[in-house]
Amino acid sequence: MRTIAITQFGGREQLKQMELPQPEPGPGEVLIRVKAAGVNPVDWKIREGWLKDLVPHQFPLVPGWDVAGTVEEIGQDVDSFQPGDNVYAYARKPIVQAGCYAEYVVLEARHAARKPTSCSFPEAASIPLAALTAYQALFDTAKLCRGEQILIHAAAGGVGGFAVQLAHHAGATVWATASAPNHAYVKTLGAREIIDYRSADVAQVVKGKHPAGMDVVFDCVGGKALTTSPDVLTSGGRLVSIVDPIACGQLADNGVNAQFVFVEPNAPQLDDLRMRVEQGSLKTELAAVLPLAEAARAHEMIESQHTRGKIVLTLD
Ligand SMILES: NC(=O)c1ccc[n+]([C@@H]2O[C@H](COP(=O)([O-])OP(=O)(O)OC[C@H]3O[C@@H](n4cnc5c(N)ncnc54)[C@H](OP(=O)(O)O)[C@@H]3O)[C@@H](O)[C@H]2O)c1
Repeated sequence: MRTIAITQFGGREQLKQMELPQPEPGPGEVLIRVKAAGVNPVDWKIREGWLKDLVPHQFPLVPGWDVAGTVEEIGQDVDSFQPGDNVYAYARKPIVQAGCYAEYVVLEARHAARKPTSCSFPEAASIPLAALTAYQALFDTAKLCRGEQILIHAAAGGVGGFAVQLAHHAGATVWATASAPNHAYVKTLGAREIIDYRSADVAQVVKGKHPAGMDVVFDCVGGKALTTSPDVLTSGGRLVSIVDPIACGQLADNGVNAQFVFVEPNAPQLDDLRMRVEQGSLKTELAAVLPLAEAARAHEMIESQHTRGKIVLTLD
């Protein structure tokens, strides 16, 4: 099958078109014919070898943890799907090797969910990893409640864009950071106050406009955004970060209610997200849809850390 794979860690030049054997589904697994693969910052971090000491990796390594496609074959004991079903999934596995930048991917059936009927395959492939991250950070970890104030850093990004919509829909008042050209976009997602982190001191602006502080801060940036987050929290407020586990742990050691989230596959939550998409309360923004062969270009874009919404690779 056609793939984009790497045989060693390194720069974008390592992403090569490669013919690899088509995988077969084992018990409890499904073989998916990939229609579209979402691109996430973790893809280039894996390519560079940043995660090699945390998770086992094997070469040739096909990147990509987001997929939308059609079930081609089911393994033994799978009764939740039939060949022909359209599905989407966050396809992280215990070993980083057989990802979604490929014509076919095998994954555990319990990690897949039915694709939203109202969106295209590229739109569906842009959702799982980023939207699950936002969902798990806001609801499982921060336990965000109706009427609360939340500050979301990097609201124009893949995760932040979903987080703004989910928080707004949950009845929270959303404060957000983004550069000025993205303010109108972030407003359409449901943010009440948007702060240009490039020209203003975010903590000062928040404290000036809302001295009581934020009930929740969701950090999708790290660095200054994370370290200054305690300054804007109410006493007992919750800080959730998805970028820097070490700095987050140090804040927790110093008494801040700070937690790091690493997104987990979760099909029931994908079902919930599907319903939101079909009902129109959750939308995805595509920054670019590129053919698989342009994976290196997709990595160049995502590495800029300034894309609005999501990038997707297609296989048709
Ligand atoms: N722990 C986990 O499970 C997990 C899961 C998903 C993602 N992540 C990590 O979380 C981060 C965000 O992921 P993503 O997919 O949302 O990335 P992304 O889509 O690449 O984020 C890009 C966005 O970040 C914004 N941005 C960049 N610097 C900023 C700053 N200093 N302040 C505010 N906004 C800023 C940009 O907005 P402007 O152009 O307006 O600046 C851009 O829209 C990445 O580091 C990723 O690896 C972790």
